[in-house]
Amino acid sequence: MIKVTFVDASGVEYAIEATAGTTVMEAAIANEIPSIIGFCGGMCACGTCHCYPAAEWAGKLAPADDNEKDTLKRVLDWRPSSRLGCQIRLDATLNGLVVDLPTRQRTP
Ligand code: FES
Repeated sequence: MIKVTFVDASGVEYAIEATAGTTVMEAAIANEIPSIIGFCGGMCACGTCHCYPAAEWAGKLAPADDNEKDTLKRVLDWRPSSRLGCQIRLDATLNGLVVDLPTRQRTP
C-alpha cells in the first residue's frame, strides 16, 4: 500500500493508504477527500482533480505531458507546483507522498 497525505487549505491532514497502480485522483475519491472531484474520470479533460504535490516530491513525479499542461491552463488558482491528480500514478517511489489541496475547483 502507498501512503498519501492530503492537506487542505486550512492545514487539516487526511492520511490514507492506496493500492499501487491507482492514481492520486482515484485514491482521493475512494477516500472521500474534499476538493478532489474527478469529473471526467481521469481522462485529463476537466481539471477537477487539480492539486499541489508538496515541493519535496516534485522531483519524484513524472513530468506533466502536453495534454496535462493544456488542462492545467484551465484550473483555478494555478501554481507552479500544480498537477492533475489523475495523471499521478502511485507506486512505491511515491510512498509517503504529500499533496496539498486547492480551496476550490472549476465547476465542470
Ligand atoms: Fe478530470 Fe483529472 S479527473 S482531469
